[in-house]
Amino acid sequence: MKKGSNVLIGVSASIAIYKALEVISLLKKRDISIKVAMTKEATGFISPVVFEALTNSRVYVDVLEEFDNKDDTNITHIALAKWADVFAVVPATSNIIAKLANGFSDDAVSLVALATDAEKIVAPAMNSNMYTHKATQENLKKLEAFGYSIIEPVDGNLACNTKGIGHIADVEDIAFFIESKLYDKPLSGKKIVITAGPTNEAVDPVRYITNRSSGKMGYAVAKMAYFMGADVTLISGPTHLRQPYGIKIVKTESAVDMLEAVKNEIKNEKEAVLIMAAAVADFKPKHYADKKIKKQDLDSSMVIELKENPDLTKTVNMFAKDNNVDLFTIGFAAETNDLIKNAAAKIQKKGLKFIVANDVSRGDIGFNTDENEVSIIHADGEIEKLEKMHKESVAYEILRRIEA
Ligand code: CTP
Repeated sequence: MKKGSNVLIGVSASIAIYKALEVISLLKKRDISIKVAMTKEATGFISPVVFEALTNSRVYVDVLEEFDNKDDTNITHIALAKWADVFAVVPATSNIIAKLANGFSDDAVSLVALATDAEKIVAPAMNSNMYTHKATQENLKKLEAFGYSIIEPVDGNLACNTKGIGHIADVEDIAFFIESKLYDKPLSGKKIVITAGPTNEAVDPVRYITNRSSGKMGYAVAKMAYFMGADVTLISGPTHLRQPYGIKIVKTESAVDMLEAVKNEIKNEKEAVLIMAAAVADFKPKHYADKKIKKQDLDSSMVIELKENPDLTKTVNMFAKDNNVDLFTIGFAAETNDLIKNAAAKIQKKGLKFIVANDVSRGDIGFNTDENEVSIIHADGEIEKLEKMHKESVAYEILRRIEA
């Protein structure tokens, strides 16, 4: 799935330079090999020693210096250019952006940039006037035309004690985007809609009924689908998870909200994939109290009458048929007993291509954990039992079973 794992970070002289250290730390946790090239000016902000300690690798600063590469060349910038699968300039000043846009190569960062065939990314960081200046904007357009991806800066506090656009993007987003470029894109051109998390069924304006789903499985599927090149929409019930960079997200509360959001997302498609990872509440309060229910109005006990929610998967499959959408639907089954039998029964009932069955009675997998151990049950009766693995690996196993 991964086409490579070598990332070269180009560091230029911005006050946001410390963010490069954070990005490197995040990438290291993802088992990515990292090397660094710095402009001379950047070394005035943070010594290369710090980057060397973090990456366990020599930092390239002096364009005249040749490292002893064991590769087929000891011309450092060419060796680094060949080594990199992704080349990301973090942070990118207006000056380095101008150099890259115009083919300059008089420092370690621009020299490698010109020589490498790697996927190229820049994460600009500068004062708002510098960022919005026509010269910078024209240069960024040029870089895009050259195949660079730009991780747009955000509105925020700037080093010059002002607020405005130019604050470097979040480090999590930068690391996420860099990692996405390390993957092959077998799902490119595919529309994939993923539901995730629990649903909240309101009792009154302050109370609701929900379940123990954290959303981690659905978010992992969304992330992996995006890494694999799909056009992803994540329809998320209430969760505490970070919104993944670059992925369209529709936030919903109740099961009925989620149903409308899914329909809306697929209605204009010829074909789409729907992955129902959400733990949809089967029941909701029959009556919604539009004012807070007060204790004194109750007789020391309270009964909430529930009525059934629609089955989202079944309803969406019917909707797809009526609207000529060729829908490839994958379901999840959360079971505490008779896992395979109970899960298999849902395939026909809900119109699924396959179902991912997991045992939620175990504390080490399923709800609110990072790992899962699932069986994939196909419509033709074939059962695949997967080992216990990280939810991202489960996500990958699910996605690679989608027909090309
Ligand atoms: N699901 C759905 N609509 C519902 C309930 C669940 O579309 N009202 C979807 C879930 O997203 C999941 C699959 O159906 O992909 C199975 O969910 P699960 O909770 O295991 O099964 P239920 O259909 O709710 O049946 P039961 O609770 O009786 O096991």
